[in-house]
Amino acid sequence: MKRTLGICYYPEHWPEAMWADDARRMAESGLTWVRIGEFAWSRIEPEPGLYDWGWLDRAVETLGDAGLKVILGTPTSTPPRWMLDKWPDMLPVGADGQIRKFGSRRHYCFSHPGFREDCATIVRLLGARYGRSPHVKGWQIDNEYGNHSTVLSFSPAALAGFRLWLERKYGNIKALNEAWGNVFWSMEYNRFDQIELPNQTVAEANPSHWMDFRRYSSDQVGAFTQVQTNILRASGPAPLIHNFMTKSTDFDHFEVAKNLDIASWDSYPLGYLEKHSTLGDAWIQTYVRQGDPDFQAFHHDLYRAVGRGRHWIMEQQPGPVNWAAYNPAPLPGMVRLWTWEAYAHGAEAVCYFRWRQAPFAQEQMHAGLMRPDNIPAPALAEVQAVAAELKAMPTAETGAAPVALVFDYPSVWAWQTQPQGKGFEYFGLVFDFYRALRKLGLSIDIVPSDCASLGQYRVVAVPGLLSLAPALQQALEVFDGTVIAGPRSGSKTPDMQIPTGLPPRLPGFDCTVEYVESLRPGLTQPLSGGGAFRLWSEKLSSRMPVRETHANGDPAIVGDEKHWYVGGWPDEAALHRILQQACAKEGLPTVELSGGLRIRDTATHRFFFNYGPEAQVIDGLEVGVAEVKWAPRGAA
Ligand code: GAL
Repeated sequence: MKRTLGICYYPEHWPEAMWADDARRMAESGLTWVRIGEFAWSRIEPEPGLYDWGWLDRAVETLGDAGLKVILGTPTSTPPRWMLDKWPDMLPVGADGQIRKFGSRRHYCFSHPGFREDCATIVRLLGARYGRSPHVKGWQIDNEYGNHSTVLSFSPAALAGFRLWLERKYGNIKALNEAWGNVFWSMEYNRFDQIELPNQTVAEANPSHWMDFRRYSSDQVGAFTQVQTNILRASGPAPLIHNFMTKSTDFDHFEVAKNLDIASWDSYPLGYLEKHSTLGDAWIQTYVRQGDPDFQAFHHDLYRAVGRGRHWIMEQQPGPVNWAAYNPAPLPGMVRLWTWEAYAHGAEAVCYFRWRQAPFAQEQMHAGLMRPDNIPAPALAEVQAVAAELKAMPTAETGAAPVALVFDYPSVWAWQTQPQGKGFEYFGLVFDFYRALRKLGLSIDIVPSDCASLGQYRVVAVPGLLSLAPALQQALEVFDGTVIAGPRSGSKTPDMQIPTGLPPRLPGFDCTVEYVESLRPGLTQPLSGGGAFRLWSEKLSSRMPVRETHANGDPAIVGDEKHWYVGGWPDEAALHRILQQACAKEGLPTVELSGGLRIRDTATHRFFFNYGPEAQVIDGLEVGVAEVKWAPRGAA
């Protein structure tokens, strides 16, 4: 697969007289793709039913004439103000019951049937007009589902939809009462129309009630997408794409992407280091101008799986952003490094956000490839350097990874609903496993929880997986490598009840979690092999051999030849050891990477990325700060 570059562009923000020159400079810089239109509804339909296609026709034409391929966005994440006169109740409602207002974006509730219908209309018109355009080579559906916390909406439309969804799922109210355990606290319902959304209850709502609301809300994102994808599929051959986000877990991305051709995601390494890092100030300080060394890679591997092998970066940070607590500039070299890292993980295209910095409105402090005065910003030269390098190495086929890590959205919702200990976060647990594997120099595939085949892997990790789907259950039954599970894996039924016979309900794991405890910061459980459990520890009994014990001799990690159960949240040292031992047993070579140096193997090359503050030498190569290098595989 050929690797390409692209850009996000807003012709409606600039005088038409600038478009041709912009397009020429984009093409001359080596860009192939230009994404437009995703926020332009008020310019396409300034008044209800009154359309102005002329400017968009000319923009598409101008960009196409310069040799660029257009990705056209459906503008449904920014409904115009007049839409609210028509549907005053389409706004999302927060868990606090407050209606969210117009004046930014994503001001719609996924459940609102009238708005969904109006989305279908605008998409139908766009599809009819541009579906066979020689210049429109892709569609972006909406923009960043989940941004600004808009998947969970506690609106009247959501309530009506939820009741219907429950009725369809359970058929009769007795079945729902049973599945939720509503005999507890006399919560039994007589009819579906008595059920409310799970916010604003006096004490906490039933976790099963929450789980069904989370599943319902996720399904609405899928249904909303499908309205658009059905129309666009019929309108022409261009692939359908959505731009997902980092650490975005409010809906099941695997499910939503089943209607798409390509999963793209938006990569803002510095903004997200500030926003998401849980590792404290010293860590942030070390990586403040580079980003977390594993965070981008994790999302590449995740979205490669979400896109069933096809993924892009739709928005790549080019300089300081405007939305984090602090917004530093990247070190020189990082834009190039992030781009090559995307390619090394299989991305087909990397598009930067945005062409020129806007001098007005919310994102006027957000860098682009051009300054507001139309002079190149620092990132442009790095993008041009990548474009030149791509001529020498235009492909980078994804290599076969020896390790799989299961990631599952319902498990996120389950442990958010019932953390049992402050800080028990599923994403964080999976990410700890991911980082530890990468620090051993391994290339990893992230796989969904309905993954049906694990045959190509030697080690499969399933930390914290709520419950097993039948496909994964069968795949694990025949898997002949090492499976590492726990903590909390197989610990609930999908309804969110404790399974009969106690956890873990995992094939081949002959052990029992008798009870669990959560550990406040500072309270750790040392392990016999070194390191400790933190946050979470389980009292295990096991018919399998004990591999490691707690200080009092109780089993902490148990396992036979193929199945290892980890009864707690291992700290870095413990996790490193456990995974290293599993790889050694399976004959997988590992390396000890220090600092911010990371490796990724493609089918033909080994890539080295240095996120750290010091130059590093590996395999005889010196990799400078903010530098990426590569060598043919097996050359070292
Ligand atoms: C993304 C979004 C873009 C822009 C960008 C700024 O989340 O899709 O429209 O807002 O962030 O960093």
